[in-house]
Amino acid sequence: MRKVKKVMDSVIALIKDEMQAVEEQFSRHLASDVKLISQVGQYVLSSGGKRLRPMLLLLSSRLCGYNGDKHIDLAGVVEFIHTATLLHDDVVDSASLRRGNRSANSVWGNQASVLVGDFLFAKSFSVMVGSDSLRILKLLADTTTQLAEGEILQLINTCDLDVDEKRYLQVVRDKTAILIAAACQVGAVLAGVDDEKEQALREFGLEIGTAFQLMDDALDYVADQIEFGKEKGHDLFEGKMTLPLIHAYSKASVEERSEVLRIVEAEELNAADLDYVCKLIEEKGGIVYTRDKALERIERAKGYLQVFSDSEARRALFQLADYVVTRSK
Ligand code: IPE
Ligand code: IPE
Ligand code: MG
Ligand code: MG
Ligand code: MG
Repeated sequence: MRKVKKVMDSVIALIKDEMQAVEEQFSRHLASDVKLISQVGQYVLSSGGKRLRPMLLLLSSRLCGYNGDKHIDLAGVVEFIHTATLLHDDVVDSASLRRGNRSANSVWGNQASVLVGDFLFAKSFSVMVGSDSLRILKLLADTTTQLAEGEILQLINTCDLDVDEKRYLQVVRDKTAILIAAACQVGAVLAGVDDEKEQALREFGLEIGTAFQLMDDALDYVADQIEFGKEKGHDLFEGKMTLPLIHAYSKASVEERSEVLRIVEAEELNAADLDYVCKLIEEKGGIVYTRDKALERIERAKGYLQVFSDSEARRALFQLADYVVTRSK
């Protein structure tokens, strides 16, 4: 794990000043006469998020040779969009833990979380207008729309054991990969590189974004809860059909399937039920399968960046890609 941290430290060092500028605008954009907004906003924004999306946007801009200053605001925008989705997501998922702390909904309630999430969405649009780029505005507006579709699609799939890998991957793409892809693509649009390079960065983002959610779904079953900072087994508790479970279920016997069905549909999840499903996933290779799929995506992602020549920024993007499949939180 120390090795993972070292790699991340070297990536962060490369964009340290820009990241600091991104952090500084957060409190400015949270300013409001309505105190609850800055209170809740500061709470979530300073609780130890990994800042993956702004880092990707800054590194993509660097990779493409951008030398203006609009990337700073836009890096803030993607983190605001991400934070808004997390505020809403924790309400939808009835989560009580986020980044090792009580989630905003468990401190201030669902209503405050939803409304501050709305504020962050609205604010991110007003900041993005400042980029003076209709293309970026459209890209991020479409991204936000698709993100909402992904969360709704997942809601529809709840407790449905007919959800297969294809349907699962559609949710993953919409709810998570699309925003990560947009963060990478914005760097290319800002720099005005050719279409081939812009698409390469988008594809890179889609692949690592998908791998990111695959790993999140594996970690939900196997992570150390303290390190992960989110409740272990929560996806099962909420009836979320994720790849470790989908894979195990596809390999399960008739008896095992009916037991999984009972557990998924139960009102309460007890420790014995979680243990049963974790063991089944282990036995059927659900975690290994999920991790292998994520690794495949990372290799494919790196392939897309071959259209760029070697540089510090490209190496850092490769390191971030590797981090996605080695992370523990
Ligand atoms: C959490 O994203 C939501 C998912 C897409 C799994 P992150 O793991 O990037 O969240 P923070 O901001 O670093 O906590
Ligand atoms: C990702 O899914 C949520 C969003 C993209 C908003 P999860 O529901 O798995 O994310 P976590 O685990 O709560 O961070
Ligand atoms: Mg969640
Ligand atoms: Mg969710
Ligand atoms: Mg999760």
